[in-house]
Amino acid sequence: MTWHPHLWHPTTQVASSDPPLQVRAAHGCELELADGRRLIDAISSWWVTLHGHAEPSIAAAVARQAKQLEQVIFANFSHAPAEELATRLSALSGLQRLFFSDNGSTAVEVALKIAWQWWHNQECQGVSPRRQLIAFNGAYHGDTFGAMALGERSLFTAAYEPLLFGVARVDWPHTHWGDPDAEAREQQALQQLERALATPTAAVILEPLIQGASGMRVVRPAFLRAVAERVQAAGALLIADEVFTGFGRTGALFASQKAGIQPDLMALSKGLTGGFLPMGVTLASERLYQGFISEQPSATFFHGHSFTANPLGCAAALASLDLLQHNPERFQTFEQRHTPRLEALSQHPKVLRPRCLGTMAAFELDAGESSYLNPVGKRIQRHCLEQGVYLRPLGNVVYLLPPLGMGEGQLEQCYAALERAIDAVLPG
Ligand SMILES: Cc1ncc(COP(=O)(O)O)c(C=O)c1O
Repeated sequence: MTWHPHLWHPTTQVASSDPPLQVRAAHGCELELADGRRLIDAISSWWVTLHGHAEPSIAAAVARQAKQLEQVIFANFSHAPAEELATRLSALSGLQRLFFSDNGSTAVEVALKIAWQWWHNQECQGVSPRRQLIAFNGAYHGDTFGAMALGERSLFTAAYEPLLFGVARVDWPHTHWGDPDAEAREQQALQQLERALATPTAAVILEPLIQGASGMRVVRPAFLRAVAERVQAAGALLIADEVFTGFGRTGALFASQKAGIQPDLMALSKGLTGGFLPMGVTLASERLYQGFISEQPSATFFHGHSFTANPLGCAAALASLDLLQHNPERFQTFEQRHTPRLEALSQHPKVLRPRCLGTMAAFELDAGESSYLNPVGKRIQRHCLEQGVYLRPLGNVVYLLPPLGMGEGQLEQCYAALERAIDAVLPG
């Protein structure tokens, strides 16, 4: 294992990290390394591999599409794969308009720009201005500047602080099994939200049900409904960042549906193409779309990416949606597969605050500071790798997020590896 002389890996401090593992193939839930070892991909390769690696029906759809139409400029042209995807996602999300971009961060940027400019366009029609944005403490919305500004200020954003615009913040009352104080924290957060909404607000953004990157922080559906009611009553727009939670991850097709909220804008990526190709989409209500139609050129949404609506990405997304819709039980019942295993693991004295939602199971390790930099995560990762399981803890937060196609034996192997790793790293 060595560092390549010409590559720069994401989110990696070379001075303190192990060099990357060389992977040569991946099928189903397994990564095959160049040295012949096999690893179970227990976190769906940064949450994108929805069904499994090299899923045959998606691979075939991409190959078919590649021979027919690989790419075309999407200003002036349209094509069937984009139209079919827009029609299907619109019906599934309750949001009538779909705008394409390239990844999760851009899907969020687009949502933010649509929300902001919609109010700007309204202002040009005499509506009073709304300049405040509200986000939640602990939020992560991506690594581009707008997405960073919306996210919690952290180690990831510190260097750019002077360049990030201000956002009002509200607590995220995350909970776990056996939490006695969830209600009180929710009430406190709702009061903070009400106070923030007293200032004219353009939009409120949230990760419905689970804040992923800040540590798999789960809130109860009733809290989100109470948030949505207040946002709507204040006349602000609600943006659901479902980049992580979309496509079955929380046990329903979209976390917003599971929570019973209807956002005005929704950002999707990651599982969108089944993890095959980089693509993001932003869904918006018809009301927002209509707010950009005008004889005034300045009302136009001047945003576009070179690879907008890439036909290969669309073909992958359609094939992935087919799989999801033909086998809904695979995401609907995943939580039942996690639950008894997480219950057993949570008997361990070093395992704290277990929580589980859909395909995600998480807990914290009683190992000092609650932080992304807590080295315990890397030690757990090494021990699991030795046992053939790939995990990537967020500091002391350890989680599993398997592809939907993970077999019972493989899931069992993940939990067994975890238990042994915890015993080795944090003995009694
Ligand atoms: C909720 C959420 N939003 C946005 C992003 C950014 O997505 P991407 O890494 O594709 O830019 C992520 C990535 O983890 C995410 O979890």
